Amino acid sequence: MEYFEELLKRPSVFKDESKLDINFIPDKLPHRDKEISLLSQLFLGLITNPNSISRKILITGKTGIGKTATIKLFGELLEEASRKRDVNIKYIHVNCRKERTSYKVLIKLIQLIDKRFPKRGYSSQDLLDILIEFLHRHNLHILIGLDELSYLINKHEDLIYSLTRINDDTLKGDQRLSIIGVVRDISCLNNLDISTLSTLQRNIINFKNYSKNQILDILKYRAEISLKKNVISNKMLEMVSEITNSTGDIRTGLNILWRACKIAESKNLKYLTAECVRLGSQDLLPFSTLDVLEYMTSQKQIFLLAIIKALDNGRLIDISFNEALKSYNMICENIGLTPRSHSQVWNYLQEFKRENIVVVDVISEKIKGRRALIRIPDLSLPKLEKNTIEILNSKGYII
Ligand SMILES: Nc1ncnc2c1ncn2[C@@H]1O[C@H](COP(=O)(O)OP(=O)(O)O)[C@@H](O)[C@H]1O
Ligand SMILES: [Mg+2]
Repeated sequence: MEYFEELLKRPSVFKDESKLDINFIPDKLPHRDKEISLLSQLFLGLITNPNSISRKILITGKTGIGKTATIKLFGELLEEASRKRDVNIKYIHVNCRKERTSYKVLIKLIQLIDKRFPKRGYSSQDLLDILIEFLHRHNLHILIGLDELSYLINKHEDLIYSLTRINDDTLKGDQRLSIIGVVRDISCLNNLDISTLSTLQRNIINFKNYSKNQILDILKYRAEISLKKNVISNKMLEMVSEITNSTGDIRTGLNILWRACKIAESKNLKYLTAECVRLGSQDLLPFSTLDVLEYMTSQKQIFLLAIIKALDNGRLIDISFNEALKSYNMICENIGLTPRSHSQVWNYLQEFKRENIVVVDVISEKIKGRRALIRIPDLSLPKLEKNTIEILNSKGYII
């Protein structure tokens, strides 16, 4: 009867658990001052000369080094500064990995400024016109953060084409739209037409990886705002930073901190021990993999599961494509799903390769010719299997 009471009586090590969440945007971003200051200089004109300037900036840099957090925080700072001067500027953050088509991005943009806007019944061109109309009518300038832009580029570069040209063609001299695009590296942009590319490439800010000491500072700050005093010693912070430094992805550190704290609480401890940190960092899947996994189509997730199962939970080092295919067909049969074609599944494999989930070694054999051998070298297979099944279950597949 007293389950909650018992739990609530336990001393917590957290001051504010939500501040360790990877989506939380802190008020400060240690070691990104330079970047924020540079962004402020580049966008100052939006405030000093309202609606007469449009800026298009590109941000590059690896995963987990504060690109998203920086532009979101910068968006807030820009809105605040413009409000003080009675200039109407709004920052809108769009994650192109989530809104994968031009249509979805545009709907998202419009709904962020007009919540009652209906979702259906418009073409992309309609939406673009409606957006422009809206900006005029409300005397508004928007800064759009197109995060993870590469997801949009491969298939729907038309939107980027239109957005980068809105000011030129349609606004009769008024400038009402600016863009910050975020990509891992500029090679993602190779598919763009030359003039869009050159527009975007004029201003590139490259975010450098954090050093080990910078990682330590950042995690120290995040621990300060989320944990009670004396819960984590410098020594433990160094331990977490050390592990985080191997990927450079701050999310790893935040996750280890959170898990280690949960473990400490379950042991009724008031502070983190080395054992808590060690347990907290076991079997972590890299966030880059989790991101990719979460947004995959179900068929592709099922094929990944098929590879994991064929690898027999790590008992086999590698398997052939045919073995993966057999395993995939078996899962499909079990759950009553029509399998995708041979060539489609082969494409999935190529995508896994690009997403750094699998390694494919092509070996030549005298008799059979060339053979592809599939491995998953860097990930904990039981963890990956568990996560994949959980996601599939949440979509209604009973595996
Ligand atoms: N300088 C920093 N100070 C505090 N937290 C940071 C800092 N840099 C990154 N983070 C945190 O690390 C996580 C990953 O950052 P994120 O902006 O999502 O990386 P990216 O977009 O480059 O992949 C986020 O939870 C973010 O809040
Ligand atoms: Mg990001």
